[in-house]
Amino acid sequence: MRTPYAQPRPWVIAPFLLVAIAFVAFSLPPYLTFDPSRSRVPVGAAVRGYYPLLVAHVIFGSIALLTACLQIWPWLRTRFPDVHRRTGRVYVFAGVLPAGAIGLIIGALTPFGPVLRASNVVLAIVWLTVTITGYRAGRQYRLADHRRWMIRSVVLTLSIITNRMWAVVWVITLVPQLQTTFGGNEALMIQSIAGLSGWLGWVLPLLVAEWWLDTRRPPESPVAGRVSNRVPGPAAAGSRA
Ligand code: HEM
Repeated sequence: MRTPYAQPRPWVIAPFLLVAIAFVAFSLPPYLTFDPSRSRVPVGAAVRGYYPLLVAHVIFGSIALLTACLQIWPWLRTRFPDVHRRTGRVYVFAGVLPAGAIGLIIGALTPFGPVLRASNVVLAIVWLTVTITGYRAGRQYRLADHRRWMIRSVVLTLSIITNRMWAVVWVITLVPQLQTTFGGNEALMIQSIAGLSGWLGWVLPLLVAEWWLDTRRPPESPVAGRVSNRVPGPAAAGSRA
């Protein structure tokens, strides 16, 4: 049974925006010093050039996170579609694409072990793919497809936050087991916490998003075709694809 959306309210975005701003306010400043000793990732173990890539990733990731909140704000999208289009380009080209491409590289070089390495690489590829797919659908006026792919993209962007929430859960759960489950091996414990948080951080929200997309239908729009899979005439489609 598909349930309808509630009417959009301007303030519904507030919790998302507040959490995103809090995350960026906590995460970004150490990297703006360009001082490798303030990195929260042990850069010494990684290859040369890793730290500048990490800094770039955090800056572009912050842009993606903040603009993602604006993109999913129904009120802004409906009232100011031009703003939605402009911030959408910032989200894709100054956020997800550079952050994801760099995330793919530093993800393969992670000092936190093979399980997180696999999660990082798969996540970066999926993040880039769904975002490019959603962007292309928007350019081609396939708006229902655009909406579905961009919801997936934004869920993956926000998964950086669920990742950190899982890390807290696993630190609380697994640190007391250092001497038992991990036989005193601290590196193994840290890799386990990082791997579990990495995979659970994005796979679960993506599954919830798929369920949500399948059980909710978009609101009826006063503008014909706003969320339908409308394809304009060949001239318009050809000029934007
Ligand atoms: C969704 C795709 C993303 C991937 C694949 C990814 C990948 C990575 C990787 C590989 C690292 C280095 C640590 C490690 O080896 O695990 C890292 C660090 C970091 N990423 Fe991302 N990232 C993504 C999204 C984001 C987003 C959207 C932000 C938003 C700000 C972000 C912020 C950070 C920060 C702040 C660090 C440094 C670690 C810290 O200080 O907590 N990432 N990321």
